[in-house]
Amino acid sequence: MTTSHADLPLVLDRLTGPPLASQLTGQLRDAVTSGVLLAGERLPSTRELAATLGVSRTVVTAAYAQLFAEGWLEGRHGSGTYVSDVAPALPCLSASGTPVPASTSPPAPDSDLIEMRAGIPWAAGIDTAMWRRAWRHAGTRVPSFFPGPYGLPELRGVLADYLRRGRGIAVGPDHLLVTRGVAHGLAELSAALVEPGDRVGVEEPGYPSAREVFRRAGAEVVPCRVDADGVVPDELPGDLRLLYTTPAHQYPLGGRLPVARRQALTSWARATGAVIAEDDYDSEFRYDVAPLPALYSMDPEVVVYLGTTSKTLTPALGVGWLAASPALVRLLAQAREKVSDRVPEPVQHALLAMLASGDLERHIRRMRLEYARRRAALMALPGLRGDSAGMHVVLELRRPAADFVAGAAERGVGLSTVDRFFAGDPVINAVILGYGAISGSQVRRAVTALSPLLPA
Ligand SMILES: Cc1ncc(COP(=O)(O)O)c(C=O)c1O
Repeated sequence: MTTSHADLPLVLDRLTGPPLASQLTGQLRDAVTSGVLLAGERLPSTRELAATLGVSRTVVTAAYAQLFAEGWLEGRHGSGTYVSDVAPALPCLSASGTPVPASTSPPAPDSDLIEMRAGIPWAAGIDTAMWRRAWRHAGTRVPSFFPGPYGLPELRGVLADYLRRGRGIAVGPDHLLVTRGVAHGLAELSAALVEPGDRVGVEEPGYPSAREVFRRAGAEVVPCRVDADGVVPDELPGDLRLLYTTPAHQYPLGGRLPVARRQALTSWARATGAVIAEDDYDSEFRYDVAPLPALYSMDPEVVVYLGTTSKTLTPALGVGWLAASPALVRLLAQAREKVSDRVPEPVQHALLAMLASGDLERHIRRMRLEYARRRAALMALPGLRGDSAGMHVVLELRRPAADFVAGAAERGVGLSTVDRFFAGDPVINAVILGYGAISGSQVRRAVTALSPLLPA
């Protein structure tokens, strides 16, 4: 829990001790390094702590400022002061008692593994005030008799605006279906469109969950080669019922599909009768490149667009959306009704509140800056690719990727190879470095730990 703060054992000596601010700084620093205060715990506000200790607020503000500068504390927008994730168990103090900057700390031990998992966002970055506002709103709404199969009409309205502003997609509410996320949308799409034995193309390497969803629908999954730019339309078979693709940021290699290939892709779909499922999972996080319009907006009749809050907020929320022709949306909604499936209404109300208030877009802007900082720190490593969007990059290696993963683990960094993203034999020797779920200081520590493993 980060909403309440610890009772701190602080005793200030007003008569004989050093200045109160430095006493307080020292005692708080000791509380962090000894594990009395744990990473993620919230500190009292300066006003509260000043009142508890009977000192002026300036004393507390000065102590917090010093500990901020040293990296022991961090602020979260609008929600207070927290102990940063500098591990208490690390030998972070030099012999003289002065803190060692995180970037020069030795690699973390096993118990403090820095897990660079792909695709997990920084849930700790969610502003608790925004989150509470959304759920307070959801809590005031009386549940409907039975939720409609399309999703809340107001939500579909604000989603249409969101997609227009953020992705240049011009849709009305009747083009939109609220889902529980991309995987749910893909499952409904395959239930409606894919017959057992149909051939469904998935990028190779590609998103394993997408492959699994199509397999469950009885499809024959056909690996479709990708290169550094994304899927290669010229090589697509002519007999696919559906093609799953990630044009904004190929998952996992990170290519951004060029316009000519986008055109070739929609022409291929028109010529063969295939449907394209465009997974736009993380395009909100884009760095140093202008956005390309979604594939959907190039040809809405052959493309189904899938979006999610799993990257912008958290996969724990379980809500997303799908844009398609109104006829297909109707078909999907009818199919949903037949199996009595639904998207929980309180979740929809919470998302509606975050969208309508502008909170979600503010959160995305803040997280974009945060991820951009982490990405910039990570780019100190040579040879990374796929860095124009999202929250992971790929490192192609000359030596076996599994050896690199083992070497990284010995140095306290958890990585995975790209192997699991291949349906067939992996043809690339690479590892994934995810920076969504680790803090900036962990990214810097990971860079320090991994650098010696890479050729200069
Ligand atoms: C390529 C890709 N698409 C979509 C998602 C999210 O899917 P969902 O909305 O089902 O949580 C992920 C999550 O890891 C992903 O990697």
